[in-house]
Amino acid sequence: MNQRSRMETDFLIIGSGASGLLTAARLAPHGRVLLVNKGRFQDSSTWYAQGGIASVISDHDSIESHVRDTLEAGAGLCHEDVVRSIVSQGDRIIHELIEIGTGFDVDDGQLHLTREGGHSHRRIAHVQDASGRAIGEALLAQIAPQPQIQRLEDHAAIDLICLPEPGKASGQRRCYGAYVLSPEEKVLTISARHTVLATGGAGKVYMYTSNPHAASGDGIAMAWRAGCSIMNLEFMQFHPTCLFHPRGSNMLLSEALRGEGALLINKAGQRFMFNYDERGELAPRDIVARAIDHEMKKRGEDCMYLDARPIGRESIQRQFPNIHERLLQLGLDMVAEPIPIVPAAHYICGGVQTDVSGRTSVAGLYAIGETACTGLHGANRLASNSLLECLVMADLCAADILTQPSLTVAQVPAWDDSGIVPESERIQIKQNWDEIRAIMSHYVGIVRSNERLRRARRRLRVIQEEISAYYWKHPVTQDLIELRNLELVAELMVQSALQRHESRGLHFSTDYPEPSETISDTVLTPDTM
Ligand code: FAD
Ligand code: SIN
Repeated sequence: MNQRSRMETDFLIIGSGASGLLTAARLAPHGRVLLVNKGRFQDSSTWYAQGGIASVISDHDSIESHVRDTLEAGAGLCHEDVVRSIVSQGDRIIHELIEIGTGFDVDDGQLHLTREGGHSHRRIAHVQDASGRAIGEALLAQIAPQPQIQRLEDHAAIDLICLPEPGKASGQRRCYGAYVLSPEEKVLTISARHTVLATGGAGKVYMYTSNPHAASGDGIAMAWRAGCSIMNLEFMQFHPTCLFHPRGSNMLLSEALRGEGALLINKAGQRFMFNYDERGELAPRDIVARAIDHEMKKRGEDCMYLDARPIGRESIQRQFPNIHERLLQLGLDMVAEPIPIVPAAHYICGGVQTDVSGRTSVAGLYAIGETACTGLHGANRLASNSLLECLVMADLCAADILTQPSLTVAQVPAWDDSGIVPESERIQIKQNWDEIRAIMSHYVGIVRSNERLRRARRRLRVIQEEISAYYWKHPVTQDLIELRNLELVAELMVQSALQRHESRGLHFSTDYPEPSETISDTVLTPDTM
């Protein structure tokens, strides 16, 4: 192996959404930071975020109210201590974002706060309808001048490097970095004192998703292979209002539109949400997505409609200019006509089991942001609580890392590619990818049953065998890395769903239509599967 295939750093951060960027900024004064991202820095859910960031700012609001709304949306499964800890830090986080240059919308000298489903107050700070991009740009500008941070775009982490921990009981392992694929398709061996997974979500497991291409669940899959426990992966949140259009590729129509007065209607122009929940269009997301799904099936229609006309032209142009413009480019004018929508996979509430500072069960390894599962979201995330969680976790993760003893970086084994032969064609990867997404969409969607879940499990196992046979024989590529991770995360989602014998939040089963009296998380560990 030539020397350039090895790199060493103090802090390896994998992923550069909100959580990875803030962690890098916090750690930079304390050592060398290597920030790797498999695409461009802008290819993240963070950059796509529209509505904003939830936080108690108004004098009419209270932490107690934000906690209550989060617990209610989470359908009894949130960890209340985690909810309190994260929600109570919102105000501080917003002020820090303002200090580093995030230009939140202001009205009469005060932050303009919008509203979204499940919130009993206006509490979403936002930058028009492109809040994530503004936050991402401010964080990126903050780290850009810092020489201690080395940034590598187009570098995909393949797997974590975990070895027995010296002086610890047998079986206990420590993470010493990761193998990372360079754009030239060479595998780099990166040794690190501390490794942080900030790799985002897994929406690409489904055919229809609001997520960017990067959301293939890599962090969850890598953590699982490293021995971490995975929690509550059955709770995939479907966003109720994604565009239904052949060229719209599931573009999101922000929930803030409904917060400002947009209505959900069927083809005949009738509202239907009050048949399902007294909060109407502003019920939590699980309820709204299920209602839309039910209406579509009942009426045999391909989509429902979001009618934003009640908001009015002037407010649409002021608060939602990007959504308005993108729709116009597709020939749709939301000022003048209802827009066709369908629910699409949006946010994975489960993930790598961690505490609020992102500690996993493997020493030296942290997981933060959407990749992690702290217990904040329970069985259904409250809108705009995710960016808040990302930033609070990044802050606490960096602080926790700095309390750890500074270990010497171990001499880690290089990537072994002996016996690898070039592949003759890559079509199998594409086919497997499409099959997984179709299986998940057909059998593990908004409404589930034992029979469908078992069918999904059987089909995924066949694909898993094909991928395993292929993986170790041919050179690793980014497509192959993602396919292997996508399949594993799909299997873990199905297994988690099969283990939940009730309906709760985002998991609705026709075999168990009621919530159970016993409330518990679904925790999968590699030893038990
Ligand atoms: P991300 O921002 O997704 O970043 C993960 C990064 O990791 C990506 O850049 C990816 O390329 C990289 N990565 C992944 N795998 C690898 C690998 N193997 N090697 C190297 N790099 C890798 N939440 C809110 O709170 N408010 C909102 O208004 C809001 N709107 C949303 C709108 C949309 C359309 C979407 C998709 C999500 C929205 N969310 C919103 C959710 C929120 O944006 C995300 O949960 C959050 O941004 C996740 O941040 P993150 O740092 O965990 O991951
Ligand atoms: C939206 O703007 O509807 C997305 C908000 C979120 O996912 O939290």
